[in-house]
Amino acid sequence: MSYIRKSVEALSGYVPGEQPDDPSIIKLNTNENPYAASPCVGEALRGFDALALGFYPDPVCRALRTRLAELHGCRHEQVFVGNGSDEVLALSTRAFVENDGAVGFFDPTYSLYPVLAEIRAVKQHVVALKEDFSWPIDAAVAELGADPACSLFFFTNPNAPTGRLCPLDEVRRFCVGFKGVVVLDEAYVDFAASDCEALALELDNVLIARTLSKSYSLAGLRLGYAVGDAALVEALYKIKDSYNVDAVAQAMALAALSDVPAMRSNVARVIVTRERLATALAGLGFEVCPSQANFLWVSPPRKTAEEMFDALRAQRILVRYFPGERTGRFLRITIGTDADIDRLLSVVKTLCRDGEPERRT
Ligand SMILES: Cc1ncc(COP(=O)(O)O)c(C=O)c1O
Repeated sequence: MSYIRKSVEALSGYVPGEQPDDPSIIKLNTNENPYAASPCVGEALRGFDALALGFYPDPVCRALRTRLAELHGCRHEQVFVGNGSDEVLALSTRAFVENDGAVGFFDPTYSLYPVLAEIRAVKQHVVALKEDFSWPIDAAVAELGADPACSLFFFTNPNAPTGRLCPLDEVRRFCVGFKGVVVLDEAYVDFAASDCEALALELDNVLIARTLSKSYSLAGLRLGYAVGDAALVEALYKIKDSYNVDAVAQAMALAALSDVPAMRSNVARVIVTRERLATALAGLGFEVCPSQANFLWVSPPRKTAEEMFDALRAQRILVRYFPGERTGRFLRITIGTDADIDRLLSVVKTLCRDGEPERRT
């Protein structure tokens, strides 16, 4: 006899990227920012009064919501703050999907969404992206229109793992056409040329989910948030854990958000390196998907993606490989420091000289 719910026993669970202890490993596998967060965060941490930890934190993050509302030009009632944007995504599956409902998303996309649907034991409505990983917007709206059970759709923009950005007018067409809640997962949007904030402020079925993990260099802090219609935000507040964001995270996030220029300057450096790596890999014969994120989605020449992944790993460089029909030809490479990327390119150049003639899966 098992004590575990059948649906939980059947779960495989989310597989995060590897976090090695060895600092000499070049880590280009989990889309972290290679540059330090604003010095204001370090100062706030040093000045944090440990006695404050004797008290519960603000359960609804008032100061943070006020600051975020200021940044997004909305009311604080339109902002939800969570323990990473992963919490926002998980709560959305609990707030916006009935037990006999379905969660929708494109494929390929962030591999957490199917896991969240499995945890809720609801159906998944998966819409395939086009061959070049762009979005079949009108076909998707028509297809989803015929599935009234699908009441929540995760639309990642820029998409992960491809890095492609869907233009605002296309996202708008999707959000207007879809009859349920659209969570626009904008985890990487600060690295992109445009965002969908305007849709979240205008349409009552749209939330944008943001995170401090990537552009703000604070993946270890666990701070994410959503902006959108006040009724959707209120629903998330009703079902969250009592104290979902701890006191340290609230104080550090406030410090980070007081220094947006520091974030912008790190982002600008990452973008320059991204473009340099994209050009260099294309020159070596890689297929490079156009990226508006802090990573590149690339398919190597001469070696399979899996062989390249293993060969890089043997040289102590970690990138991400997702086996599977749509994804197995590609690697996702996080943009690291210039030194990291120089090392990657030198290893890749050597690997590309091996193993001729050209071979692809
Ligand atoms: C598309 C996407 N959304 C959300 C997240 C989660 O971000 P957070 O660290 O805020 O939970 C990630 C993390 O890799 C991601 O790739």
